[in-house]
Amino acid sequence: MPHFLDLHTTDALALRAIVDRARALKAARAGRPRGAPDDLQPLSGRIVALIFEKPSTRTRVSFDVGIRQMGGQTMVLSGSEMQLGHGETIADTARVLSRYVDAIMLRTFDEAVLAEMAEHATVPVVNGLTNQSHPCQIMADVMTWEEHRGAVAGRRVVWAGDGNNVCASWLHAAGQFGFDLTFTGPALLDPADGPVRFARAAGRRIAIERDPMVAVAGADLVVTDTWVSMHDSQSARERRHNLLRPYQVNERLMAVAAPGALFMHCLPAHRGEEVTNAVMDGPASVVWDEAENRLHAQKAILGWCLGV
Ligand code: CP
Ligand code: NVA
Repeated sequence: MPHFLDLHTTDALALRAIVDRARALKAARAGRPRGAPDDLQPLSGRIVALIFEKPSTRTRVSFDVGIRQMGGQTMVLSGSEMQLGHGETIADTARVLSRYVDAIMLRTFDEAVLAEMAEHATVPVVNGLTNQSHPCQIMADVMTWEEHRGAVAGRRVVWAGDGNNVCASWLHAAGQFGFDLTFTGPALLDPADGPVRFARAAGRRIAIERDPMVAVAGADLVVTDTWVSMHDSQSARERRHNLLRPYQVNERLMAVAAPGALFMHCLPAHRGEEVTNAVMDGPASVVWDEAENRLHAQKAILGWCLGV
């Protein structure tokens, strides 16, 4: 079953093909109204369940719109309103949903929930973010980087801030797409070992550098994310802010990156915290393209999952 669960567990050639297809899908509908159907309707007659156990703007809207453009139907479900949130097992939910829908997109907490859904579903399951990773986001980000700057192999990205779920998928992407990554952030918020080991085993240079100015010097791309993720306890908020403040992406930091370096953020951004307005709205920022490319990348992911 071709589930799309994580970048390190999906074949590198398949990932390459998905990004290429996403770019072709985007080009093919340039200038059309958002609600206009694609020329090809590969999801005609198919319905996809979009399940959210956490809030979402981009993932929810981009999957919904993309599936409709491909001729499919969607059903957006909130975890708390399903029996899943009231004692029914994940395995039983997977078995039942597989009798109604052709694919399942799940945004949840621990990745074990996603894995259990995938194990028991007889239709493809797509990871719409867990506490540990966010692969759809980084497919859109790699697409965006290539659109603006060409091949990413051999380039260097700097992740500034919390070594969180989005950072983990960037590390997986480093291994799969062949670029290097420097993490700069406080030791208490280092990325998980697994993604670092994966990228290093793939031959990539993965550095940990506590000084953000040293880390960003000469970088091709600077990426950050919220200092407090949806799964983080709100009680740790002030402590996290204090630890992460030195890693804010501001004009002073961007000034030491390579000429033409880009800035990315998966959004939602907390302006004035992890990134300043000047950088978010400045010439290096491609954050709106990243958000748009979620749409195209996820259409290609669903096409790959369903073999259409
Ligand atoms: N970047 C992202 O996944 O945004 P949402 O939480 O709005 O879906
Ligand atoms: N790291 C963030 C990403 C949101 C898209 C979170 O998990 O809340």
